[in-house]
Amino acid sequence: MIVKRLKIKNYRNFKEAEVELNPSLNVFVGDNGHGKTNLMESLYLASIGRTFRPNSENEIINFKENKSFIEINLQKNTRDIKIEIHLEKNKRKQVFINGIKLDKTSEMIGILSNVIFTPDDMKIIKGSPMERRKFVNIDISQIKPKYKYLLSRYKKICTERNIILKKYYEKKENKDIINIWNDYLVNIGTEIIMYRNDFINKLKKYATDIYANISGNRENFEMNYLCNVANIDNMDKKNVKNQFYRKINSHFNYEVQNKTTMYGPHKDDIIIKINGKQCKYFGSQGQQRSAILAIKLAEIEIIKEEIGEYPILLLDDVLSELDNKRKGFLINYIQDIQTIITTTDDYEINKIAKNYKKRKFYIKKGKIGYIMN
Ligand SMILES: Nc1ncnc2c1ncn2[C@@H]1O[C@H](COP(=O)(O)OP(=O)(O)OP(=O)(O)O)[C@@H](O)[C@H]1O
Ligand SMILES: [Mg+2]
Repeated sequence: MIVKRLKIKNYRNFKEAEVELNPSLNVFVGDNGHGKTNLMESLYLASIGRTFRPNSENEIINFKENKSFIEINLQKNTRDIKIEIHLEKNKRKQVFINGIKLDKTSEMIGILSNVIFTPDDMKIIKGSPMERRKFVNIDISQIKPKYKYLLSRYKKICTERNIILKKYYEKKENKDIINIWNDYLVNIGTEIIMYRNDFINKLKKYATDIYANISGNRENFEMNYLCNVANIDNMDKKNVKNQFYRKINSHFNYEVQNKTTMYGPHKDDIIIKINGKQCKYFGSQGQQRSAILAIKLAEIEIIKEEIGEYPILLLDDVLSELDNKRKGFLINYIQDIQTIITTTDDYEINKIAKNYKKRKFYIKKGKIGYIMN
């Protein structure tokens, strides 16, 4: 899919900006604090329906204004789609697809698919297991609408089950009720585990090859799903369910003592290794960045496999720690994928992407212009 045109109004530090994007590479150059990440955020918002920043939507609207607006013209499977998002202070945002208002913002997920890589994504490697689960959850939700529903059900089930565990011995009927919640936990939890296992296996398959190429076949990448319930390699759903029951039955007293649900996909993790050593602890900055890049490019392939076309790729200021060989690999890889790259300095990328089709823009104090050369 291709974003043909992006228009934003009163979006953070942009008063009004409109750009026609190139179907392949787009480079936005600008100094710190001039609006590069803001621009990326507007595209992400039009894709996922929310910001990747940890603040409220009110803060997206320009400080001096009450309303903000994003409009995107998208070409998807030869169809033209218009996405419009209206933001108003202290009101729920409104999303229109080809002029028709959506009942729920979440319905927009899957229309404009994106893969984003920002410096903040380093936490997929460096951060806690929660960060890795968050990353997997967002990505599976983009391609499997049912997964998002399962997650919200699972969260509610854990909350309810925890209430029972907290006062387990205080009410007689809890002994019967807990079994109902165990069934819910295991049934919905197993669905989530199966989705994750499938996704991580695919990710692993693509990312291993991509990492080998990024590193010029000098380094070896490994990725494994650490399922909290059991080692589920090659297990079918029925077996996973049995293991899940076994786990919660044999540790039930421990859960009551801790007054909380201790086992299930809410405790999962992913282990990433380079040359047999855990990347989180032993990887260099460049290796950690390359690992994320391999995962992100793998995600692109999975989305293509699922929906039949490439998503857009957003790379926010992430090239700086890669050596020129790795940058060269990346530029070559993304030729058929619409990519938006931001950078403070375009010297290297001009050299590396010299012979590639691209469009260049400057971003200065919330204004965007084309760079002709
Ligand atoms: N609601 C808002 N209204 C006006 N300005 C805002 C708003 N929210 C953020 N800004 C401003 O937007 C500016 C640009 O932010 P952005 O993160 O896009 O910069 P950047 O070009 O990515 O910089 P860097 O290279 O440092 O990452 C910041 O100075 C910030 O104060
Ligand atoms: Mg930035």
